[in-house]
Amino acid sequence: MGWEPAIAAEDLWEGELTTMTLGGQQVLLVNADGEIRAFEDRCPHLGSRLSEGDLDGCTLVCGKHLWEFDVLTGKGTNPGDSQLTLYECRVIDGTIEVLIP
Ligand code: FES
Repeated sequence: MGWEPAIAAEDLWEGELTTMTLGGQQVLLVNADGEIRAFEDRCPHLGSRLSEGDLDGCTLVCGKHLWEFDVLTGKGTNPGDSQLTLYECRVIDGTIEVLIP
């Protein structure tokens, strides 16, 4: 699908998360301590929207059953054997873009 423009980088503050549809996919964007990451907005446990959870520093907590993930890598930390679907993202001319496969 290619690179899809998401939102202005200045509109996603540190500690914030947001969700949007890009290229037909529901994408979660997070800004964890200034690091921007993009994931499929779907918990690997039972598929809940991760955007309904909480971002605490670099830890994303699913709102459904409280699984925890490191948003810098997408790896599960509690339990540790899960992995979020990570999309490549970049900032071009102040706009966050996400590579939709
Ligand atoms: S659906 Fe996310 S922890 Fe269960």
